[in-house]
Amino acid sequence: MKETSKTIEVLLQEHRSFTPSDEFRRQANASDPEIYARADADWQGWWASWAEQLTWERKWDRVLDWKPPHAQWFVGGKLNASVQCLDRHVAAGNGARVAYHWEGEPGDARTLTYAQMLDGVARVANGLKSLGIGQGDRVTLYMPMAPELVMAVLACTRIGAIFSVVFAGFSATSLRDRIQDQEAKLVICGDACWRRGKLLDLKIVVDEAVAACPSIEQVLVWRRGAGAESASAGTPRDLEWSALVDPQPALCAPVAMDAEDPLFILYTSGTTGKPKGIVHSHGGYLTVAYATSQLVFDLKPESDVYWCTADVGWITGHSYVIFGPMANGVTQLMYEGAPNHPQPDRFWELIHKYGVTVFYTAPTAIRAFMKWGDEWPAKHDLSSLRLLGSVGEPINPEAWVWYLHHIGGGKCPIVDTWWQTETGGIMITPLPGITTTVPGSATQPFPGIEAKLLDEQGKEVVGPGGGYLVLSRPWPSMLRGLWRDPERYVQTYWSRFPGMYFPADGAKRDQLGNLWVLGRVDDVMNVSGHRLSTMEIESALVDHHAVAEAAVIGVAHELKGQAPVGFVILRAGREPSDALAKELTRHVGEVIGALARPERIIFTPELPKTRSGKIMRRLLRDVAEGKALGDQTTLADSGVLDGLKKEYESREG
Ligand code: WT7
Repeated sequence: MKETSKTIEVLLQEHRSFTPSDEFRRQANASDPEIYARADADWQGWWASWAEQLTWERKWDRVLDWKPPHAQWFVGGKLNASVQCLDRHVAAGNGARVAYHWEGEPGDARTLTYAQMLDGVARVANGLKSLGIGQGDRVTLYMPMAPELVMAVLACTRIGAIFSVVFAGFSATSLRDRIQDQEAKLVICGDACWRRGKLLDLKIVVDEAVAACPSIEQVLVWRRGAGAESASAGTPRDLEWSALVDPQPALCAPVAMDAEDPLFILYTSGTTGKPKGIVHSHGGYLTVAYATSQLVFDLKPESDVYWCTADVGWITGHSYVIFGPMANGVTQLMYEGAPNHPQPDRFWELIHKYGVTVFYTAPTAIRAFMKWGDEWPAKHDLSSLRLLGSVGEPINPEAWVWYLHHIGGGKCPIVDTWWQTETGGIMITPLPGITTTVPGSATQPFPGIEAKLLDEQGKEVVGPGGGYLVLSRPWPSMLRGLWRDPERYVQTYWSRFPGMYFPADGAKRDQLGNLWVLGRVDDVMNVSGHRLSTMEIESALVDHHAVAEAAVIGVAHELKGQAPVGFVILRAGREPSDALAKELTRHVGEVIGALARPERIIFTPELPKTRSGKIMRRLLRDVAEGKALGDQTTLADSGVLDGLKKEYESREG
């Protein structure tokens, strides 16, 4: 590690900025800096020019109806997203092009062309229709990373059903809550999958969740195979994918959807204990996924092999594993498992094996690669790569230069892309053939997007400085609302600075005009690029019979970016112990999912509170990060903190 960090320092000196080579610029989809001014001058026209490249059943009457905070884009237009992702490429004679090279963790592999994907999607869609699933019905997906997950998504899209993917690492309780919230009719699941050499039994989780979901009529089970079997005994609700899908005809006419019809619901954590069901639309969402994929990842459908490592359970997988790249007709790699199985060079082996040209991953992964050692990527020829991307959290400059040097051979531009589940597509990013990048900065708003920094009073911060990040113009892929919770939509995103979208991130602008997104300014933490709510974890802790009260904060973590730490007050008669801490950690995993498990549990007789009883998480963070304590003037009882500090330090390490 010592050697590496020294090298990194030297690299950081050498790579204060990175300008794309002439060679890259010449071939780039966007190479003229004028693109920004042109898009700004007529931003509605700019987005319409992208929408025009999609296949529409009926053209829109108006580009935008904007009654803040409610936008409608491409009003009156009709289209079907699956047509753009599949039929259009087959019709253009590109049916034989590979859509997905897929590799399972144990090494089993399949290759599916666009024509094969269309065939599969049509069969699944016909199968869903035979079950009585139709336009507007909700279908919950709980599946491993496999082409069948993409087929299930696009099949729903094709018949106008609203799909909702739940990440297969979420617990039965989380899955149940989501199914109940959307009143889904059907769950499509995988029976099991492989992760770091271990079997993840998904069907067992589904059985437990669905037992409390009266809206579910059936569960469609796709069998993963390759030794991945579920211990589920099966229920009368179950239907085999092979029995339902295989006999179906391979033709299914797409339903022409209104541009504003909901395409999917994806849950993300907010500041309360209840996750928000983010709703995206057909027309606007697809337009931005298509445009950003083409310009940010510089996709060349004839020659690129693009690999986004995100799971489809998150927004990145929706926009940049399914809709964006497929709408562009590019060839992708999809991988089921962990980056360090069987060895820490699995990703690099895959890049070489499939000739990956564009690679998109998360800072937390990059930091893990750094820790595992430079020798792992060095063992493989990664010269096929031409462009790298990063998403999910701020990328620290050390990770950025390591990525450039050890993965990108010092020559690949890096696009650090800022966006959110709610924005649907990338909002702040370099354009790789134009932007001179700076390690750690997401640089500029995508053409057509307007971002501002505001101070506490809502006054714009012009020039260098820091503030709250806002998006000050509507954009086609903005969330259309929260599933059945219109008030929370207005309150969460549009009330802090009226008329402007508030993503709850803080940011700064440097002397060059580049934006640096610094992190969340609400009670949401970012763990390995995934959003977690402090309140949700607190509720999970308090749900345990031994716990009277809990406060959760995100503390800086070397690999994960942030990690949850729980401060817990036990009920009378319960004694703190390591065993109980372990049990509480496990309990949070059971209630939410493994990713939410606290890194540490600190037992305390009291929590620092304001005189009105609000927990002062800011001070807890100072304690946990070993910092000097901030302003304590509103603290009701200052003795509480001294005790906590002692407790924390005595248990360190
Ligand atoms: C939050 C959104 C976007 C897909 C993955 C996460 C943080 C995301 C960056 C970046 C700095 C970033 C923000 C944002 N974030 N990308 N490039 N630089 N911060 O989606 O779960 O909706 O989380 O992730 O804090 O608000 P999400």
